[in-house]
This record gives sequence, structure tokens and C-alpha cells, in this order.
Amino acid sequence: MAWIWITLTLALFAHLLLRALLRKTQSKKKLPPGPRGYPILGNLPLLGKNPHHDLHKFAQKYGPLMHLRLGFVHAIVVSSPEVAEQFLKTHDLVFASRPPHEASKHISYEQRNLAFAPYGPYWRNIRKMCTLELLSNAKINSFRSMRREEVSLLVNFLKDASHNRMVIDLSAKISSLSADMSCRMVFGKKYMDKEFDERGFKAVIQEVMVLGATPNIGDYVPYLASFDLQGLTKRMKAVSKVFDAFFEKIIDEHTQSKKEGGERKDFVDVMLGFMGSNEGEYHIDRPHIKAIILDMLSGSMDTSATAVDWAMTELIRHPSAMKKLQGELEIAVGMNRAVEESDLEGLDYLDMVIKETMRLHPVAPLLLPHEATEDCIVNGFHIPYKSRVIVNAWAIGRDPKVWTTHDPEEFVPERFLGSSVDVKGRDFQLLPFGAGRRGCPGMQLGLTVVRFVLAQLVHCFDWDLPSGLSPSDLDMTEEFGLTTPRAKHLVGTPRYRLSE
Ligand code: HEM
Repeated sequence: MAWIWITLTLALFAHLLLRALLRKTQSKKKLPPGPRGYPILGNLPLLGKNPHHDLHKFAQKYGPLMHLRLGFVHAIVVSSPEVAEQFLKTHDLVFASRPPHEASKHISYEQRNLAFAPYGPYWRNIRKMCTLELLSNAKINSFRSMRREEVSLLVNFLKDASHNRMVIDLSAKISSLSADMSCRMVFGKKYMDKEFDERGFKAVIQEVMVLGATPNIGDYVPYLASFDLQGLTKRMKAVSKVFDAFFEKIIDEHTQSKKEGGERKDFVDVMLGFMGSNEGEYHIDRPHIKAIILDMLSGSMDTSATAVDWAMTELIRHPSAMKKLQGELEIAVGMNRAVEESDLEGLDYLDMVIKETMRLHPVAPLLLPHEATEDCIVNGFHIPYKSRVIVNAWAIGRDPKVWTTHDPEEFVPERFLGSSVDVKGRDFQLLPFGAGRRGCPGMQLGLTVVRFVLAQLVHCFDWDLPSGLSPSDLDMTEEFGLTTPRAKHLVGTPRYRLSE
């Protein structure tokens, strides 16, 4: 009997010793610096309406590699190009996952979509399908005539408004154009706003973007999740019910009317081609298709519209840049016809305007959160397994140590003159599309739409602000979400300037 007691005592002793040793080694691991947190909630109460601004302020005090405790979650905030390169290139594989959160559970079909799927074979498979089958150059080009039709509709509307000297809500028009182009590409047709829900299609997708980005206490203090203290889960469930019913209807319509060989296939047609088949490369079912439809819509609608809206705002605020861009388009295209997508190659000033807009107003200021799949050491600091990594692209874009030729707070497209810095994820000082394995797979499509729509709006029209409002009075407040558009809509009166 005595040997049992001896064994148990030894086991207990070994266990206590091991725990003490573990604590000691863990406490030796140095986390990056950061502000002290409150009990339980940690640093969560420090984040306000614009978390990218708050994190920027803290980074100025604690440095470009900062640690926060958000409830029970370690959060690592990255605010310089050098540190961003460590996370998105040097250790990209370790940080290529996404953290689970309530929004991905309720809105994104239990993380089945591409944007929120954890790193692993499923994510690799659907990423490959989206890149090769939906977002390839050939597929983007196959929708060129559709984009042209939709942009022409807007230009014709604005031409009439110009003759009648009407004040136009330009932000709303850009957003509708983008929604119409996305619907035609994803579903094959436009959906009248109210057919979707009494609030309207765009309002529902915008609600998704806001719910996806609002810090949710339940994500950080899991035992509080079921109380839904902010009422976010209730809103998520309501919104997901609306679009799930709509996507069901779309899939039914598509399965009932199979396209003939020569007809252009929309994204739902392409995905249905892979559904249920065990021979094809991708095995996807109805919930996956619905999750990816949501990805493609939320990825393409608000992002491009937000970028064009900010670019128009900055050009109206900076008439000399507007004139310069109009001059470039006049030389390349003339004044007798509208810009075509084929004209867009080699328009250097247009590219500089877009880069400068994306530097100052990155569409997704904090990218999407990344998650560590194992412990890692970065710049001598311990980054624990399951840390949530937040890259503050907004802060990097206005860092005076990086942007030295002109005041980083100023809109000066010329700062890119003779510079090779690009938005494509190779230059870590400019990361509007992220970088590495999780970088945006829709970049080419996004850039095509932004360049084409912006070029048309600038080439076809001069823009007057409502009387009494000068360009410098424009309200530049942002509305933080997964995408961050202007808080107040941009309104103005177009003046048609082509000679036809
Ligand atoms: C101006 C346009 C766009 C901008 C600025 C933009 C920006 C971004 C950013 C910042 C990320 C996160 C990168 C990261 O976490 O490191 C992202 C991811 C993503 N974007 Fe875009 N995007 C745009 C257009 C599009 C389009 C047109 C689509 C598809 C139709 C799209 C689909 C996606 C998807 C699916 C992801 C998640 C990728 C993954 O997690 O593997 N985006 N985008």
C-alpha cells in the first residue's frame, strides 16, 4: 500500500515542479511592449470608434511592434514596413491563419468562406479555385463589356444631370455602380434593391461589413459571448437569414436554367460546375458556394467603390491634381470619345493618384486579422500561439520616417514620381491589398474597376461642389468597418466636358 502513496506523492511533486518551471520559462519570454490593460477586458476599452487611429497613437508611444491584451486574447499590432515584412513575408506561413470570431460563425457559414477560413487544406483548395476559376485575368476580361455597359449607364445619367445642373450624391452613385457590376459578375444579373430585402441590397452588405469589423466582447472574453452584451450576434443572425434566403433562391434559379456552351458563365455557374462532383479538383457543396458568393460580393462591392469615392474626394480637394489627370486622359484618349479599359495601360498619373489615395485612405485600414499558428520570435519578442495579428496599413501609410519627400498627411501623387513603390504587396510601406499568402486575390479585378471608373468620372466631367462649400471644407471623417468609406456622402454637380 505504501508504494501507492509514494508514487502519488512523487507524481504530485513532479507535476508542481513542472508547472513552476513552465511558469518560469513563460515569464522569461518577452512580449512586445504595450499599454497596461484593465482587469478582464484588458485593452479593449481603449479602442474607440476608429481603432486604426487609436492603435496608431499607442504605436507612437510603444513602437511598431506592440502587444495588447484584448480580453483573453493576445493582440500584436504592426505599424512599420520593416515589422510588416517580418509578419507577411519572413514568417508568412506562421501568420497565414485567421482567428475564429462570432461574425465568421454567424455570417460566414462557420468560417467556410475564403476570407475567414483558417489556414489549411480547405482554405488552400478554395483559394486556388477562386484565383484560377473566378479571378483569373481571362475571367476578368470576359466581363469587360459588362463593365463598359454599366459605366456608360452612369455616365449617361450624369450627362443628363449636367444639362439640368442637378446636385448628385456621387458616393451613392459609385456604390450602386459597383453593386450592379458585382451582381452581374457573381449572379449574372442585377437585383433591384428591394427584391433582396426591404432595406435594400447594399444596406445589407454594408451591415455585414460593419458587423464583421466591430470589436465584439464575446470574441475576446468567450464566457461573455452567450450574453451578447452589444447585441451584435442578434444583428448577425438577422442579417445572415436575409442573405441566406436570397442566395438559396439564386442557386435554385441557376440550377434550373443551365447555360449553353457559348454563354458567358457567372461565378455561380462556375461554382455549380464543381458542386457534388468527386471527379473535379474542388469538392464544394451548397453552403460553401453561399459562403464564397458572400466573399465575392463583399470583396468586390464596397472595396472598389470606397477607393473611387476617396480618390474623387481628394481630386476635388486638389484641383491641380484633377487638371493634371484630365490632361493625361486628354492626351491619351482625346475629347471625342470616352475612355476604354484598353486605354488604361501606361496612364502614369492615374496610377500615382490611385496609389496616393490608397496610401492615405486604405480601404481596409487594418487589413483582415491574421492568427499565429504556433509560437514565434519576431525582432527578439515572443509572439504566442493564437495571437491575433493586426497590421495597421493606415498608420504605415502616414509614417513620416517612411514618407519623406512630402508631408505624409498631404495628398501629393507626385511623391510616386520616379519611385518603384507599388500597391501589389512587394513594398511593405504601401499595403492596401495586404501581402503574402493571405494577400487579396481580387487585386487585379479591384484595380481594373477603380482605374476604369475613376478615369471615366474625371475624363467626362468637371465637378462643382454645392454652392457655399469650398473644396477645403469637405468633411473627411471616416466610417470604420472592414472597409472604411467616407462617413458623409460626397455630393456635387457634374459638368460634361467631352465634345460629342
Ligand atoms: C480596391 C479593391 C480591393 C481592396 C483594396 C482589397 C483589399 C483587401 C485586403 C486588405 C485584404 C486582406 C489582406 C490580408 O489580410 O493580409 C483582402 C483580402 C481578400 N479580398 Fe480583397 N480587396 C479589393 C478587391 C477585392 C475583390 C474585387 C475581391 C473579389 C471579388 C476581393 C476578395 C478578397 C478575398 C476573398 C480576400 C481574403 C483572402 C484570404 O483570406 O485568403 N477583394 N482584400
